[in-house]
Amino acid sequence: MTLAFSQVAIIGAGAMGRGIAQIAAQAGSQVWLHDTQPEAIQKARDAVFQQWDKLQEKGRLTAEAVANFKTRLLGASSLQDLANCDLVVEAIVEKLDIKKSLFTDLEKVLAPTAVLVTNTSSLSVTAIAAALQRPGQFAGYHFFNPVPLMKVVEVIAGLKTDAAVCQRLSDFARQMGHTPVQAQDTPGFIVNHAGRGYSTEALRIVSEGIADFATIDRILRDQVGFKLGPFELFDLTALDVSHPVIEAIYHQYYEEPRYRPNVITAQRLAGGVVGKKVGEGFYKYVNGVAQTPAEPPVPVVKHIPPVWVSPRAARRMELLQLLKDLGAKIETGASPSPEALTLVAPLGFDITTVAVVERLDPARTVGIDMLIDDAATKRRVLATNPATRSDMRDAAHALFARDGKAVSVIRDSGGFVTQRVVATIVNIASDICQQRICTPQDLETAVTLGLAYPLGPLAMGNRYGPTNVLEVLFNMQTVYGDMRYRPSPWLRRRGAIGLSLLHTEE
Ligand code: NAI
Repeated sequence: MTLAFSQVAIIGAGAMGRGIAQIAAQAGSQVWLHDTQPEAIQKARDAVFQQWDKLQEKGRLTAEAVANFKTRLLGASSLQDLANCDLVVEAIVEKLDIKKSLFTDLEKVLAPTAVLVTNTSSLSVTAIAAALQRPGQFAGYHFFNPVPLMKVVEVIAGLKTDAAVCQRLSDFARQMGHTPVQAQDTPGFIVNHAGRGYSTEALRIVSEGIADFATIDRILRDQVGFKLGPFELFDLTALDVSHPVIEAIYHQYYEEPRYRPNVITAQRLAGGVVGKKVGEGFYKYVNGVAQTPAEPPVPVVKHIPPVWVSPRAARRMELLQLLKDLGAKIETGASPSPEALTLVAPLGFDITTVAVVERLDPARTVGIDMLIDDAATKRRVLATNPATRSDMRDAAHALFARDGKAVSVIRDSGGFVTQRVVATIVNIASDICQQRICTPQDLETAVTLGLAYPLGPLAMGNRYGPTNVLEVLFNMQTVYGDMRYRPSPWLRRRGAIGLSLLHTEE
């Protein structure tokens, strides 16, 4: 296939512009880099040249290729120099008025056939296009930082964008070695929208005092397989970047409760405790290394009482087998004996509610999260209720740690940690599909490449069971009385009739 765009202008030579310039030159286009700060152009070219030299040293690029690439990355001191470009990518400051006026100026200089795109991450593509004579030739082209490594780009159609323009931009993305995904022009597009579930729900859990941030990070890494816990991720991205995105998406969706921000990040941002780059975020950093609080030790317990498992426990047979493997004495009566440790394993409900509904003695009742198959996780999570006796809590902790697997004990919460966060991610992803912002397949691609989740959110829902996820959400809505947990119709319908969340026929 011939190159979709042979003369490419990049405006704004900052973090994003230089990355886009690099991959466009590598694809074979002649690239012109422009910035209002002339020194920024030079700095960006030097930085990209250094990248190429490094790749050559590592043997990943030949000397000939690098020499070629370098001839294809030039500076442009004025917009007039860009008159022959067939694509202009804007990556300047994130301000609507400044972007609009830049594009108005560009339209006067460029040929009518030229395609103009914005790398905005939070502004409406349609709003920027409103200033243009040819909105059909304009689209969003949203890359991720660092561009050469984050191999996905969202191609965003504004209200008036021609479909052929999006197709051509997708072809060009592939020529640059990236995977294009198509998104409707909606707040946060796909990746920043889908990412709301992980961090905002984790913040909610901390703000309720259920567990501290380090425990939540451990649970989500070990139980679900996320590479970084939500608070490690906040520290890496930095709150001066992520908190405004959380607020923007919430307000752009007219205060939709699913995206509600949290005072924790607002306060930390105000206090300048924004993340790794300043040496302190949720974690403190010494020489760039996070100082992680020690895990609470496994309590030493002399006598472990017999264990009785609620007949309504999730994955009851697996839980009984696990207890057997751990050498527990299991009671089989219809109700627990007076000394028994009573185990419940609800989906979505809190331990208190379960103890009351099942008429169990709350002082001896402990919960375990069984959403995920025990064999598939590296950590077990237990929860107490306000009445749980400390000897019962410690006995449960010691028992479940007997084979050396990590155990976290948290306070009572509808849905433990994993259930809450997984259900929220799956629900928001389902709603993205329900709104037809993109295809389910593009959603999965965008999230796995753009957020590095272990699984796409819909595949995650399928793995843990759409019916289970639905049950978690319905019950959490009851526990919290909060509309943020109301299931998306996409999830409700597919969960109710046992279909895959990737199922699109309707
Ligand atoms: P940056 O601050 O690193 O670079 C912006 C550059 O644009 C600066 O060199 C500045 O001198 C130049 N500039 C500002 N106004 C200009 C104008 N009117 N004409 C020409 N040049 C101008 O910013 P960064 O991080 O590269 O972001 C650029 C755009 O990309 C923003 O819209 C941002 O929202 C978006 N974005 C940023 C991501 C990130 O992780 N940094 C990720 C995805 C999108």
